[in-house]
Amino acid sequence: MAEKDDMIRMLNDDLTGEIEAILVYMEAHFLMEDKHCPTSLAMLEIAMDEMRHVQWLAEEIAEMDADPELTPRKLRFAGRDLEAALERAVGLETGAIAQYEAHIAAISDAGVRRMLAHIRDEEEDHHKQFVGLLAKVREAAADR
Ligand SMILES: [Fe+2]
Ligand SMILES: [Fe+2]
Repeated sequence: MAEKDDMIRMLNDDLTGEIEAILVYMEAHFLMEDKHCPTSLAMLEIAMDEMRHVQWLAEEIAEMDADPELTPRKLRFAGRDLEAALERAVGLETGAIAQYEAHIAAISDAGVRRMLAHIRDEEEDHHKQFVGLLAKVREAAADR
């Protein structure tokens, strides 16, 4: 059953990454002075998307009679700086996209591949949003 064990390990790794992203984005949201600025709202909204990903992954793992691993990685927060928070978010999304791509290539189960591809598409959308916000924040800083 090596293949099933490998699949569970990969899904748990994805799950851990999602939890890391949720906590980092929520921290960014809470630390921002203006909770209603576009970056702060995006952090909160995207954290909620990641929570849906946690649900999908955890349900899939539980269906395979394994335990979802909900312990976060050692967290590296970005602090109060808007630009640093967005750079961190872009990095997390870039890493997530690469990891989902690798897992889609390594897994043969069609249903799991479909779920991972759906999540990957959403991570690409998150990446695009964060890159756009980062460009705006840098532009505003340059105008000052
Ligand atoms: Fe996600
Ligand atoms: Fe994401």
